[in-house]
Amino acid sequence: MRPVVAIDGPAGSGKGTLARMIASHFDFVYLDTGLLYRTVAFLNIPLAEVRKLSVEKLLEETSKLDDKLLRSPENSVKASTIAKMPEIRDVVTGLQRDFIDLFNEKGTVLDGRDIGTVVVPDACCKLFITADLKERAKRRFADLKDKNTTFDEVFRNMKIRDNQDKSRKIAPLTCDKTYLMIDTTGQSVEESFKICREAVRKAFINSEYGSFV
Ligand code: C5P
Repeated sequence: MRPVVAIDGPAGSGKGTLARMIASHFDFVYLDTGLLYRTVAFLNIPLAEVRKLSVEKLLEETSKLDDKLLRSPENSVKASTIAKMPEIRDVVTGLQRDFIDLFNEKGTVLDGRDIGTVVVPDACCKLFITADLKERAKRRFADLKDKNTTFDEVFRNMKIRDNQDKSRKIAPLTCDKTYLMIDTTGQSVEESFKICREAVRKAFINSEYGSFV
C-alpha cells in the first residue's frame, strides 16, 4: 500500500477543489494530473520529447503557461483526445508514479481519471467524486473567468469529454468497489469535504500510515 489519496471522477465533479482541500488539511502534496495531459496537448509536445521529460520539468513547463488557456474548452477536448493514446498514457503514468515516489515521506493526493485503477491501485484511500452532468456544467461555467463561451457550449464539451473518458479502451474512467463513491449533486463544498476528510482519516488510520493523519 502507498500513502496516497487517489481521487477519480468526471470533469466538474468538484474533485480538484476537494483534492486541494484534503492536501492542505493533512499537509499532503497535491498533483492535478489533468494538468499534465493539458500541458502536453497545449504545447503539442511530440511523444519522443514527452519521453525525455521528468515530472519536475513537465510541471515547470505547466507553471509557465496561462491557466485560463490550459483550461479552455478547446484545450480540454484536445487533452482528452491525446489522453486516449496508449503511448502518451504510459509515459504520463510513469511521471505520476515518479511524483508519488518523490513525496512518499509526506503523502500525496492525485486527482484524475485512472489514479486508483491504473496509476496507483494500491493507494491507501480511493475516492470517486461525481455529480449530475448539468450541475457539473453549471459549476464549470460559473468558474470560467473568461466568459466568451456559452453554458450550452460548456455542457456539450463536457458531454463529449465524459464519453471519451468513459469509453476509451485504455484506462477508462470507472468506479469499482475499492472506491468510496461520493455524489456531490446538491451538496455544498463543505459537506462534501467533511465526507472526504473522514474517509481519508479512516483509511489512513486503518493502514500502516496512521501517523500521516
Ligand atoms: O482533470 P482534467 O479535466 O483537467 O483532465 C483533462 C483531460 O485529461 C480529461 O478529460 C482526461 O481525458 C485526461 N485525463 C486522463 N487521466 C488523468 C487525468 C486527466 O485521461 N489521470
